[in-house]
Amino acid sequence: MNGGGSGSNNVALPLGPFGAYFPLEPQPLMPTLTLAETGDTFEVPAGTSLIEFAQERGLPLQFGCTMGSCGVCCVVIEAGMGNLNPKSDVEDETTEMVTNHEAARLACQIVIEGDVTLRPAE
Ligand code: FES
Repeated sequence: MNGGGSGSNNVALPLGPFGAYFPLEPQPLMPTLTLAETGDTFEVPAGTSLIEFAQERGLPLQFGCTMGSCGVCCVVIEAGMGNLNPKSDVEDETTEMVTNHEAARLACQIVIEGDVTLRPAE
């Protein structure tokens, strides 16, 4: 007997498709930001603006206009694209001017909601 059985933890789980129980996947309150080039990791409060965090902590990311129009801050998201705020039309236009990489985002426009790994675009 390993104690991992049923009965003692009566937590109501949401009922998913086909009658199976699927626990909701919570987003971490302190997501991890990983800089792919250096391997450095940082715990970042969910909802944090990447540019604010980068400037506070002196991260090696470059910024220009800070408004999503110059493209200097373009990064490639290696993991966790779904953990970021959606791209605006302006960001879409600017990234298309800078790169054709599908996973490109503008660091000045990113809000971190979950774990993410990124590197500067080349
Ligand atoms: S700093 Fe100019 S687009 Fe991000």
